[in-house]
Amino acid sequence: MSKNLPPLELGQSAQRGSPLETTAFVAGATGYTGREVVRELRRQGIETVAHVRPDSSRLDEWRADLTRAGAAVDTTPWDAAAMTATLRGLQPGLVFALLGTTRARARRAGRDLAQRESYESVDYGLTRLLLDATVAAAPAARFIYLSSLGVREGSRNPYIAVRARFESELRQSGVPYLIARPGLITGPDREESRPAERLASVVVDGVLALAGMMGGTGLQRRYASMNAATLARGLVRAALGPEWNRVVEAEGLRG
Ligand SMILES: NC(=O)c1ccc[n+]([C@@H]2O[C@H](COP(=O)([O-])OP(=O)(O)OC[C@H]3O[C@@H](n4cnc5c(N)ncnc54)[C@H](OP(=O)(O)O)[C@@H]3O)[C@@H](O)[C@H]2O)c1
Repeated sequence: MSKNLPPLELGQSAQRGSPLETTAFVAGATGYTGREVVRELRRQGIETVAHVRPDSSRLDEWRADLTRAGAAVDTTPWDAAAMTATLRGLQPGLVFALLGTTRARARRAGRDLAQRESYESVDYGLTRLLLDATVAAAPAARFIYLSSLGVREGSRNPYIAVRARFESELRQSGVPYLIARPGLITGPDREESRPAERLASVVVDGVLALAGMMGGTGLQRRYASMNAATLARGLVRAALGPEWNRVVEAEGLRG
């Protein structure tokens, strides 16, 4: 059941001292979606802290990029006590969990790092660490979790299974939450080359466009790919809206 919270006004910062803090903490801020979420939050006048892992090989570049976007950059290590202390100090009103790895990344990491670069350790493990830190340090914060289309209990697909597990734990955590389930997130502006994802989006979007011409616009709104900027607008709009403790599917994110 969704729970109503007072809305934040789009385009306005909430008053300091109001039940809703203005600060947003973005984990995964260096990703395709994360970078756009940071930009969108700043466009809406929301104080934004962009998290970058301290051992990132591109730390200086990300710091410059995210600072230019108007965010403060935080480099807390992915450690439970350290993340809790950071959130305790910041007291964010919004926490975005936009992290994830891919099979290709895990392969590139090689056997030595494979355990640190899996759906279990990143998509589930780091997101769970962030949730635990939020529960401990900022339990009134709204937790926005970027999940995926097709998530269901009992799936044997490891990517879907870790998301189903996390969604279930988030529901029971006691923090106000939003679970976003977009389809493919892609566009020509994605820096990392993902040919299989691009091909899938061309095929799926083509079929859906045909279905749309024949009246199946609902299918198109639900299953067609979206780029990070569209998704970011949808995520921030939902995050500032009045309805909480719910799942937002792709059509709700498109606006
Ligand atoms: N792509 C899709 O079609 C799609 C569809 C639905 C849902 N999703 C999910 O949505 C989320 C965001 O997707 P995206 O495409 O925007 O992701 P992305 O561009 O691949 O970015 C992933 C983010 O996760 C961080 N990350 C990855 N491995 C990490 C590690 N070992 N330690 C710390 N941070 C790590 C990255 O940080 P670094 O830059 O430091 O590596 C980056 O900030 C992911 O969970 C993804 O699975 C994706």
